[in-house]
Amino acid sequence: MTELNAVYGARRQRLLDAMPNNSVALVLTGPEQVRSNDCDYHFRPNSDFYYLTGFEEPEAALLLKKAEDEATVTLFCRPKDTLREIWDGRRVGPDAAKERFAVDFTFEIAELDQRMGEALCDTDVVLLSQLRQEEIAPMFESWMAVVRAQRKQGVRAPESRLDLDAVLAEQRLIKDAHEIALMRTAAKISADAHSRAMAVTKPGIWEYQVEAEIKHEFAMNGARHEAYNSIVGSGENACILHYVENNGQTQDGDLLLIDAGCEYQMYAADITRTFPVNGKFSEAQRAVYEVVLKAQEAAIDVIAPGVSYDRIHDTAVRILTEGMVELGWLVGDVDELIETEAFKKYYMHGTGHWLGIDVHDVGDYRVAGEKTWRNLEAGMVLTVEPALYVAIDDETVDAKWRGIGVRIEDDILVTDSGYENLTADVPKSIDAIEALVGSRA
Ligand code: GLY
Ligand code: MN
Ligand code: MN
Repeated sequence: MTELNAVYGARRQRLLDAMPNNSVALVLTGPEQVRSNDCDYHFRPNSDFYYLTGFEEPEAALLLKKAEDEATVTLFCRPKDTLREIWDGRRVGPDAAKERFAVDFTFEIAELDQRMGEALCDTDVVLLSQLRQEEIAPMFESWMAVVRAQRKQGVRAPESRLDLDAVLAEQRLIKDAHEIALMRTAAKISADAHSRAMAVTKPGIWEYQVEAEIKHEFAMNGARHEAYNSIVGSGENACILHYVENNGQTQDGDLLLIDAGCEYQMYAADITRTFPVNGKFSEAQRAVYEVVLKAQEAAIDVIAPGVSYDRIHDTAVRILTEGMVELGWLVGDVDELIETEAFKKYYMHGTGHWLGIDVHDVGDYRVAGEKTWRNLEAGMVLTVEPALYVAIDDETVDAKWRGIGVRIEDDILVTDSGYENLTADVPKSIDAIEALVGSRA
């Protein structure tokens, strides 16, 4: 048993511990998806499935069965196939998978229906993904039909169904030591990529050229993929929250907003920096930037175990709203502008999200079944990403503010004593940014 087997084994054991007696849980990873004609997208395993197995091939499933006196783990995968392996790539196959992934049983994926029909017999509870209900429902019905057909022989069918997503989300929300190590690396590679982007930028560079520098830095450091499509928006493009066209040419005087993070061994980083392409903030850009930076630093600083999640957003919103009043964008009492949500004109999104195998990672933000926000706990990883955006056609503000978009985003690990900023290496003070931008252009 390797060290990695122990990591995945411990995660499966935690899931088994959370399962009721006499239950089964099934986690599926999908088939490859067509991009166009006969070309597929690069395959990425289902996050829950990968979290529990470390298995990266398509068309596989994990079955956990918990009975009074024993628990078994079964992995289903594609069979060995010489011809398909010559064309499409290697397959581990059920025989080798048993030892390599340290599970009790392995079968070909084609046996899933038959084995599920057997596994559900005399089982009380079944745990399946609610989110993937549409895909799972027809299969589940066919398995249940097989089980119900045996009723006269005294076979019992499961009477209740639980949402496996909810159980795994709570588990994934608190990162284990292996995950934290990978996330540190994802953060480091991504931080270096942002620094590289700043260093190579000069007026006239195209947004996709900066994107290429970022992707190069990712891949050269072991992260072949982005965790999400990089956002590289210059000038007013920075005000489009999910701008991914990245086909504009930067102009002297523009700010460039880059929101990019790599996926390293399946774990995401998610960083945003905003900087002037000519290396010098204008007075207006500087004024906006200072407000966002102050909000971001204050919001990060409240992070500690036991702190309610909404304090992060509330802290950012207050400072941003004060800033909007000082800059003359909003007029009125800060409390009232917050109460009436007037601030949303210039800050319309949340201040962060959980981060992990998925960039917008799983886990509830509120206490289950209640309106109250949950408290932070050591081992959670989240982003803090306040921003300000002024639409190019906003006639209610002075022309000098129009088209300015600033977002600053870091990845924060909640620790026993407070927090650790995993992406602190990318410059974000005005002086540090101005010193770096264009230094290798
Ligand atoms: N990059 C997506 C986000 O910041 O949420
Ligand atoms: Mn984010
Ligand atoms: Mn982001």
